[in-house]
Amino acid sequence: MHIRPFGTTGMRVSAIGLGAWQLGRSTHWPDGPDEAEAVRIVHAALDAGVTFIDTAPGYADGASELNIGRALTGRRRDEAIICTKFGYLPDGSENWSASEIEASVARSARRMNVDHVDIVVLHNPPPEILDGSRSDHYDVLQRLQDKGHIRAYGASVDWSADLDTAADTSASTAFEVRLSALYQEPWPAVGRAHDRGAGIIVKVPLESGWLSGRYTADSVFTDVRDRWSRADVAVRAGLVREFAALLPTGVSLLSGALRFLLSYDAVSTVIPGTKSVAQLHSSIAAAADGPLPAEVVGAVRDWYDQRLAAAPLDW
Ligand SMILES: NC(=O)c1ccc[n+]([C@@H]2O[C@H](COP(=O)([O-])OP(=O)(O)OC[C@H]3O[C@@H](n4cnc5c(N)ncnc54)[C@H](OP(=O)(O)O)[C@@H]3O)[C@@H](O)[C@H]2O)c1
Repeated sequence: MHIRPFGTTGMRVSAIGLGAWQLGRSTHWPDGPDEAEAVRIVHAALDAGVTFIDTAPGYADGASELNIGRALTGRRRDEAIICTKFGYLPDGSENWSASEIEASVARSARRMNVDHVDIVVLHNPPPEILDGSRSDHYDVLQRLQDKGHIRAYGASVDWSADLDTAADTSASTAFEVRLSALYQEPWPAVGRAHDRGAGIIVKVPLESGWLSGRYTADSVFTDVRDRWSRADVAVRAGLVREFAALLPTGVSLLSGALRFLLSYDAVSTVIPGTKSVAQLHSSIAAAADGPLPAEVVGAVRDWYDQRLAAAPLDW
């Protein structure tokens, strides 16, 4: 497993991290792993050298943090850098009050059976909270960092403008950013945040599963992805074929998707959402060869600029 710096924070993280949105069986993920498989996933991740886990109080309707806690019991705490979030509660409701941050972080740590979490990001906050000149949230997080309760903080965002806002109005050093071969809008702001010393966590790297290579224009989604119309599915299937055609012979779609992201020094860790030990192992193997050749990366960037930049894919 390749290890990369998390910006200039002093933390070092595995190139492939564990995306734990799906780490539990829940209303949103009825086909997610049960408790035993969730624990096996975390153990297999740590055993394979994964040192970064991304979760949130609301993931898998609250089961994700609890399953991480079950898995970490008896394990060395320092095996993993744990990132959790603030804003959504296990029951799906939202509470953005800055005065709730410290208690929320403490509850996350308790659920995960750890004495502290390493990174806390605001979970796609509303604009008035994302902008540090209009909110107290980053000040509260800075105080937690100063007291040694957390090691870094920031925000989870989807767009360049939001990343720039958070970076310009706070001393954040951790950003979780949506990025994939099919969704490259945030690259410019990612570069700027990296230049300021922030660590970058890449979320949704497989474009919600599309870049695993399992899906076609005929695929039917029955989980949260049922938001896509038949036309949306057909568009994505076509884009996946176009991206695959840019990859060197012998490089699978999964491998090309993960290695494209890891071709950028600005990226600290890429966190595929993982539902099984088999998916975990195949993602790790697919990324093992590291960055793609520079000419392939350039071709994927050019293709995106011509094909999608004017109208980026929505969720
Ligand atoms: N607002 C936020 O902060 C936010 C939002 C979204 C995600 N995230 C974080 O980012 C992580 C990743 O995002 P995501 O899960 O939404 O999207 P993703 O990583 O692009 O896609 C995950 C899906 O791809 C499929 N998959 C994963 N690995 C695979 C493999 N090796 N082979 C075949 N299929 C594979 C699985 O679905 P199927 O098996 O059903 O195809 C899995 O649910 C999440 O777990 C979470 O930690 C954060």
